[in-house]
Amino acid sequence: MNRQNEIIRLLNIAYPLIQAPMLGVTSSEMVAAVSNGGGLGSLPLGGLNPDACATLIARTKSLTTRTFAVNLFAHDVPEEDHTVIEAMQDFLYRICQENGFEYKKISAGDMKLYTYEEQIEVIIREQVPVVSFTFGVLKDDVIRELQSRRVVLIGTCTSVREARLLEEKGIDIVCAQGIEAGGHRASFLYKDEIPQIGTFSLVPQVCDSLKKPVIAAGGIFDGRTINAAIALGAAGVQVGSAFINSVESLAAKSHKDATLRRSDTGTVLTRAYSGRWARGIKNAFIENVDNSGLTIPAYPYQNALTAELRKAAKEKDEEKFISLWCGQSGAKGQHRASSEILAEMIADAEKVKNLICHKQ
Ligand SMILES: Cc1cc2nc3c(=O)[nH]c(=O)nc-3n(C[C@H](O)[C@H](O)[C@H](O)COP(=O)(O)O)c2cc1C
Repeated sequence: MNRQNEIIRLLNIAYPLIQAPMLGVTSSEMVAAVSNGGGLGSLPLGGLNPDACATLIARTKSLTTRTFAVNLFAHDVPEEDHTVIEAMQDFLYRICQENGFEYKKISAGDMKLYTYEEQIEVIIREQVPVVSFTFGVLKDDVIRELQSRRVVLIGTCTSVREARLLEEKGIDIVCAQGIEAGGHRASFLYKDEIPQIGTFSLVPQVCDSLKKPVIAAGGIFDGRTINAAIALGAAGVQVGSAFINSVESLAAKSHKDATLRRSDTGTVLTRAYSGRWARGIKNAFIENVDNSGLTIPAYPYQNALTAELRKAAKEKDEEKFISLWCGQSGAKGQHRASSEILAEMIADAEKVKNLICHKQ
């Protein structure tokens, strides 16, 4: 892999390969394994309370002295109609009863929705060197505060318009997330219809529009896909689904198994779990919510409403209710140590590059 580029200098890493933050899947052990292997591990903190953030950062620091990133959800909390929330709660209560899960109804006023602004103090105190974010742009004062402390910022886009806004705001690195990607769409400038551009189309168009370095995300899992992203102009890659099945992954067994079982066409985009569009493997929960005819409350309300259910489903390893986030190339993941997955991707990228060079 190209070891001379700007990403490597900015992030103080050996290879321009970032392990994607995956809330509920990425452990401190996974982050440390990738950073120790010369890539950049990313610790997901989206929506967590500040104490939980501090604990996870401390745990990760105990496992690596290398640079790692933390990842935030940079969203606003919109107003939501209480009758929409209550109707969804009634529905969730009913399907939990039918399936032997407990469901505690909470009034909209009692929901504790943590925003990234409550996490910034911990990040500054812990002197985290890299902050990546999705679902929006950090507020101007937060950007200034973090950059005054030399924190490198990585923002995520799903279109050229979003990429330009991130650059205008002074964000150091832009991650372009194609539609293949597993988990939540980063989209933030669109209300109902989010961009559906694939990595192959998005990356060169974003690269042509920006001066800042671009990282490609979505469908990247081996030497071919890494080199394709670099050929399209990306300075580095962000890889998520390929780590779901790793030894250090926190994913439930049924999530890991489903990821390997599904073919290229096994995933769908859904708002059923969180109110934001996300890519995962279709299961009974997604079908139930999508067929309910109910309005799905906006993020983060729906996310809060399904939190207990998701937790219980994961504990019971109940595939039909777990949020099985996974990208279109998820079936390519392997059950191996994260360090081995990383090392193999790097070696494969070198091999493929040499093959391509040899052919010319
Ligand atoms: C299980 C899972 C959870 C994810 N959680 C997050 C997250 O917490 N924050 C974030 O910025 N992106 C998240 N993503 C998206 C990834 O950052 C990245 O865009 C995606 O994994 C890249 O595509 P790939 O899955 O094809 O490698 C998640 C993806 C997956 C598969």
